[in-house]
Formats: sequence, C-alpha cells, structure tokens
Amino acid sequence: MVQLEGRPPEGGGMEEFMALAELFGYSDETLAKVQSAVSEEKGVPVPQLTRYYNPQPSRVKMLEEYACELFGSNYALGVNSGTSALNSAYAACGIGPGDEVIVPAYTFFATVAAVVTSKAIPVIAEVDETLCMDPQDVAAKITSRTKAIVCVHMSGNVCDMDSLTALAKEHGLALIEDNAQACGGKYKGRFTGAIGTMGCFSLSSYKITGAGEAGLVLTDDEWLHTRALNQHDTAACWRPDRFAVERRPGELFCGQNYRMSELEGAVNLVQLKKTEAQAQRFNRNMRTVADHVGEFKNIRPRPSNDKEGDVGCMLVFFGRNPQHSGQIIQDLGEAGVSAGGRGSKTARDWHIYTYWEHIMEQKTATEEGCPFTCPYYQGDPPRYSPDMCPNTTDLMERALFVNIDQWWNEGDCRRVAGAINGVFANLDTCCDR
Ligand SMILES: Cc1ncc(COP(=O)(O)O)c(C=O)c1O
Repeated sequence: MVQLEGRPPEGGGMEEFMALAELFGYSDETLAKVQSAVSEEKGVPVPQLTRYYNPQPSRVKMLEEYACELFGSNYALGVNSGTSALNSAYAACGIGPGDEVIVPAYTFFATVAAVVTSKAIPVIAEVDETLCMDPQDVAAKITSRTKAIVCVHMSGNVCDMDSLTALAKEHGLALIEDNAQACGGKYKGRFTGAIGTMGCFSLSSYKITGAGEAGLVLTDDEWLHTRALNQHDTAACWRPDRFAVERRPGELFCGQNYRMSELEGAVNLVQLKKTEAQAQRFNRNMRTVADHVGEFKNIRPRPSNDKEGDVGCMLVFFGRNPQHSGQIIQDLGEAGVSAGGRGSKTARDWHIYTYWEHIMEQKTATEEGCPFTCPYYQGDPPRYSPDMCPNTTDLMERALFVNIDQWWNEGDCRRVAGAINGVFANLDTCCDR
C-alpha cells in the first residue's frame, strides 16, 4: 500500500470566501444561505460549489423546486445567465439552420444574438405602444419557415399573451417568453415566464430579482425540459445515469456548459422568495403615481396589456417628438424625478434594433456568415435596415421612462406625481418640430 503524506491546508479558503460575500453587502439571511452552501466542505482546497456530484443537498435544485412552486410550472432549470436560458430554450425547441424566429425590435440584444448562435434567422417585428411585441406585425411576418415567436416582457411590461398564444397555436409555433425584465409580472393572473411553451429568466444583479449572474428556464413539457438540460450540460451530469445510452432519440446532442453554481443557487433562492412582494410594491407604486398624474394633450401614458400584472419598475410616457421628450426628461431630472430615454444619435443602446450593429451588418464569429448565408435557409437572403420597423423607432425616440422605487410610500408617490404634473403642464405644448 502506497502511503501518501500531502494534505490540503485546513480551512479551504472559506474565510476569505465569506469575507468576499460580506463585502457584496448581502443581508444576514443571504449570508447564512451562502455559509450553509459552503460550510459543510472539509478538507478541500476551495469551496465546493458545483451543483452535480456534490455531497450536500443542491441549492440549485432547491431554487428550481421553489421556482416551480412559485411560478406554477412543471419544470425549472437553473442556468448561469439569461442568455444561457435563451440558448437552452432555443435548443430545446429544435431551433436551428433554415428556421426563422420572430423577435421584437425592442429587446436587449441577447434575445436576438441567441437566435443567431442557434444558427437561425432572426425576423424583427414591431413593438406597439405597450412597448411589447405587436401581435399584428408578428402575424404579418410568419412564414412557412417560422419556428418560434420570442416575446419579451420589456421593462416590466407584460405582453399581449392571448393574441400571441393564439397566433402560435394557429401556426404550430413555439412561443418562448423572454422574462428577463419582468420577473414577478403577471398576465391575467398567471406569472409571465410560465405561460408560453418555455420561459427564460435572467437572475443577474441588474434585474428585478437576482444577484451575480444566473438564469432560469421554465416549461411544462418534460421533453423540452430534458433537451434544455442537455443543452445546459453537455457533460450529461444531469442524467440519472450519466453514461447511459440515449433513452430517446434527441436526448443527447452536443450542448454547452451553462450550469449554475451552488453559490448562485443559494443566493437566488433567497432573492426569488422576495419576488412576489417586490413586484407588488413596484406595481402599487407605479399605479399610485400614474393615478395622480393628470391628463395631457401631448404627453400620453403607455397603454398596458395588464395594468395589475405589469411589474411596475418603470412608468412610461410618450412625448410628441424626440426634442419634446428630451426636454421633458431634462426637466424631470431637474425636478428630482429620475427619468430617461433609450438610445440617441450620441448614445447607442443594445435594447433597440437600430443599434444592433451585429444584426444590421450580419456580423458572425466566422467569416462565411452562417446563419445569414446558410444553404438550408430557403427564404430570400435576410436584409436588415434601420427603417425596417418605423413604429418602433418612432415610439422609442419619444418614450420617456420614469423610474419607480418599490420603497416609496404613498406620500412619496404623490410627491413624484406632483413633480411630473408640474413638468408636464409646463411642457405639454412646447417643442414643435
Ligand atoms: C430582455 C433580456 N433578455 C435577455 C437578457 C440576458 O440576460 P443575461 O445578462 O443574464 O445573460 C437580458 C439582460 O439584460 C434582457 O434584458
């Protein structure tokens, strides 16, 4: 028997690790979860934060179980970003060469990039005044090559799910919800992200719910879940028997590694438990402010697909023209109201199609230009131009977003509404083109 004497040092770097977690300003509750995710490890050189083959009960699994319970979905999969969630859902739905996927002209670029990395062709549809996908334009853009519609609940605003679901059903398409910006939103009482064929969430620090970098994929369909599992972990650690032969054709294919770490699982479990109350606070405050803003001839509020279901982190109005909206935003800022626009000649914005240089110019990682030049694609060569969605361009140039704080009280909401009224009354008739 060989006698080995080398030993890892005691402690495994756990103190440094916890000190780092504290530095991020986590609450005691979160820190306790982080501690519990790492403290049971003894004698290993680094904290063991992997979801699979970990002797501890998996925090990622707990997060997935909680997500199913909260959102009312049969299956949930934790991944390492919202982009990974989209890539997993697209792969699960079999989106690939020759397919078209309809995406909205106003969404964070990742929704569209994931179509391209899936080797399919993005078809860009207008948004309407709700700032979500316009179902009429989607209907007009469906072809025999369309495989899926990806609707995005942008800026906390929920899409017209009845119309989009009906369209998807009529044409036999997958309806994938990008819920990265509306975690906790509801449409007619159902959580967004759990209504379509699949739902994708980002749980990054910049989102309504989240911390660090993470994402979720929801579905009610066991087979789609299985395929999403394969895409998220091509090493197949997720399988009951990792090395077993394929149980059904299509179960095993070359995927990626999008696995969520146990630390993200632990932290996001705490975060997700706050989601519902958080969305209720945002929605209550948004509606209170909106209810106290008067009616103006030239500054119109954004219509909603479900006022009670919008998350409410932003209250949106439209000015008459870009100069008008720009002036309103400036004056709101001076009145102490946090507001902004999206994109301009001097500031590019990855949320509006006109700035998606990589799509407009069909930039791909390799020179042959796949999927834009794909021989499997039977449509006319795709062409993108800044004037292809004029309604969206017009709306985005005139939209002004007032940031809502979930922690405002009734008095704060009234004061913000009062300041908005002052600015709107002053500027309602200004700034003719
Ligand atoms: C609408 C939308 N989809 C997808 C993503 C991508 O999420 P992540 O940054 O977690 O990859 C984002 C993130 O900003 C988003 O806003």
